[in-house]
Parts: sequence; C-alpha cells; structure tokens
Amino acid sequence: MGGWRTSVFTLVPKLLLVPMIVLGPNQLPPTSAKLQPSFHGKNLSSSDAAATCAEELMALYSGPVRAASLSEARADELRSCVRPLVPYHEISPPLGCRGEGEADGVVPSSRRRRLQMSRSGVQSSSVDELMDVNARLLSGGVVDDDAQEKVERLVQWPPSQVLSLARRTVVFGGDPSAVLSELSPIKHPVPDVQNSTAEKCYLTKYDYGKRFEDNVINSYIVFLYHAISMLSPFVGFNVSLNRFDLFHGHMFSTYDTNRLGILFHSREYPQYDEKIFPINLGYCQKGSKIPYDKSMDLRNILWLAPLAACTDKGVCSDDWLASGVLFILDAKEGGVVYRELIPEYLDDVRTVSEEEFGYLVADVNYLNLDITPPESRVFIC
Ligand SMILES: *[C@@H]1O[C@H](CO)[C@@H](O)[C@H](O)[C@H]1NC(C)=O
Ligand SMILES: *[C@@H]1O[C@H](CO)[C@@H](O)[C@H](O)[C@H]1NC(C)=O
Ligand SMILES: *[C@@H]1O[C@H](CO)[C@@H](O)[C@H](O)[C@H]1NC(C)=O
Repeated sequence: MGGWRTSVFTLVPKLLLVPMIVLGPNQLPPTSAKLQPSFHGKNLSSSDAAATCAEELMALYSGPVRAASLSEARADELRSCVRPLVPYHEISPPLGCRGEGEADGVVPSSRRRRLQMSRSGVQSSSVDELMDVNARLLSGGVVDDDAQEKVERLVQWPPSQVLSLARRTVVFGGDPSAVLSELSPIKHPVPDVQNSTAEKCYLTKYDYGKRFEDNVINSYIVFLYHAISMLSPFVGFNVSLNRFDLFHGHMFSTYDTNRLGILFHSREYPQYDEKIFPINLGYCQKGSKIPYDKSMDLRNILWLAPLAACTDKGVCSDDWLASGVLFILDAKEGGVVYRELIPEYLDDVRTVSEEEFGYLVADVNYLNLDITPPESRVFIC
C-alpha cells in the first residue's frame, strides 16, 4: 500500500506534531526535533513496518473477519500496547440471530431497546443522552458508574448524526470531501488561548476554524475530548484540556476500510528542560508546566467511529461490523507501538502520525475556554 497512498486525493500535508508553528531564531520545528542521534535498536527502514502495524491495529478493531487475519500472538502483542478507554463491541456477521455469547463490553440486552434496531441489533445513542452527558462532563461533577456507562455507550454507538457521517465517509471511499462538505462555510476566528497571542503562539493550522453544519457532530467532538479527559485516569493517565496538553486531533479516513477516525495528540508541549527535555518546540511551549516524563508514552489517543458494513465498492447495508472505539496507544519503549509505529526521529516526543492510519481529513481543535456554548470551542482546520 506504500506507493499510492499519498496521491489519491489532494496533497496531504506531512504534519506530524503540530499544525502550525511559528519558529523563533535557531529553532527546529518539532517534527525534526532530535536529541543526540541515537539508535534505539529499531530498524531504520521501518516505514513498511509502520504501515503494516497500523493496518493490523485497525484490523483488530474492525469486526471478527478482519481480526481473524491476525495471528493470536500478533493480536496479543498489539493489545499489549493498547489501553482501552471503553469496551470494544464487535459484531458477528448476520448469519441469523445474534446469540447471547457476545463479546465483552456489549450493552446487556436488558438495556438494549428493541425499537429502531438495524439487523445487527445496534441502537444509536440519542441526542438527549449526548447533551446530558456533556452537561455532566463539563460541569466537572462526580463521575459515578452511571455517568461512565453513558459515556461508554456514546463512544460505542454515537447519535445517528455521527453514524451518518461515519457511513458517508465509507460510501465516499474515504475521500476527505465526504466530511469536509458537511462543514458550514462560516469561518470562526481562533481566539486567544491562555495568553497564546502575547506569546506569539498559534495553535491551529489557520487563524480561523470551521464547524459542522449539524451541531450534534460539534457536540460529539466536545464529548470526545471530555470523555478522554474523564476516562484516561482509569488507565493511569491524567490528561488536561489546555493548550499545552490536549487541544487537537487529526481526523482521518483509514486506508483499509475508509473508516472515520481521529488521532488525538495530548502532551503537545512539554516543558523545556536543559537536562530532561532539551527540545525547543517554539513559542507555544513557553510557559508550559507539563513535565516530560513517562506519561509521554501515552500521548497518542485513537477514536474510531463505528464501522459500517459495506462492500469494497462502498455499498453499505444498515449493519455495523464494529462499535466505536476509544483507546490510548502505549508507546512504551520496547513495545510494538514504539518499535514499529513511531519513526525514530520522533522517538523522544513519542508521536504517532495519523498518516499511518489513513488520509488526513482535517485537524479538529478543541480550545477549552470559558465560552459557551461549548460547541463554539471547536475549530476545524
Ligand atoms: C530491517 O528491515 C529490512 C527490510 O524489512 C530487513 O531486510 C532487515 O533484515 C532488517 N534489519 C534488522 C536489523 O532488523
Ligand atoms: C501574557 O503574556 C505577556 C507577555 O509575555 C505578559 O506580559 C502577561 O503578563 C501575560 N498575561 C498573563 C495573564 O499571563
Ligand atoms: C492523576 O491525578 C490524580 C488526582 O490528582 C492522582 O491521584 C493520580 O495519582 C494521578 N495519576 C497519575 C498516573 O499521575
């Protein structure tokens, strides 16, 4: 798959770390940030390995047929570098009725309402559920089991507006325009974020951002950011929604199944430190209090939309092959993500590129300012 991936659609900019960086004198862009050249025991010609690894990782969460293409050992190896934020729900091909012996994390049948089900028994969350959960997440209230369950369900089976977008992306063969044409043409100027302007720091690719015409999708983006922030501590990772840590993700459509996804990059600007992190990341790094530590391993977070059951020609049934997925990639040294998915020149910042998984659609920024409604914190560039 190596050769044609960059030429099918428009030119996909090779942006690895942060979309737009204003460089001061003697500053390297983050993407070329290097400490002393060091060989960490990985193969230098590893881009094929990265493509294969990314594809296998996608296959693992793309329904039983694709997952079966992986050996047990390989699947285990990949899983050992995944920290799931919600249970993944895999759907068997519809060979009759779905049995009771379903995969882990399936919504118990008592809670599965019977109306409006597609053949695979999937039911989307309602917009009311999304709004309720967002109100709870944004108010910073206590997260009880009930709230957590609702968050999980919203990730697994989003509201129909998000499902439609997911299906549309597949029907369009992963062409980014399937998503981009759903954006409103209105350009919203990117505001100052925690004194970013005074620091000459520009966080986004452009100085304006767009939003989805259908505001439910914008609400869902708000939801994803807050869900990550809420769920991550359960798997040993604290992430903050601010301009040094988590504020952006790269939306893509996967090479293999044209599935919609977002690769979030947290820990974007660790604090400069002569000894621990002597890498100058530009103006936006100034003022950072994020220590460069072991938690950098967990900075790459993946969301995949539910996977519609479609033929290779993009003809889709009402069925779904897999639920939505949200997990942290663990780039611990020695693990498969570190070895295969991270190019050596990005070892220190542990950056996985969305280009490994699919075609870039747009950057999805969430600037967690005190502005309402929360959807107005979304800037798609
Ligand atoms: C590096 O990768 C190449 C091509 O995949 C392979 O031929 C070679 O044996 C690998 N070297 C090491 C040290 O793994
Ligand atoms: C913003 O940055 C400017 C320039 O560095 C500084 O003078 C000012 O005190 C900062 N304001 C806040 C609120 O941090
Ligand atoms: C996350 O934050 C909580 C509360 O401040 C703290 O108790 C916990 O140890 C932190 N976890 C990690 C992995 O840093």
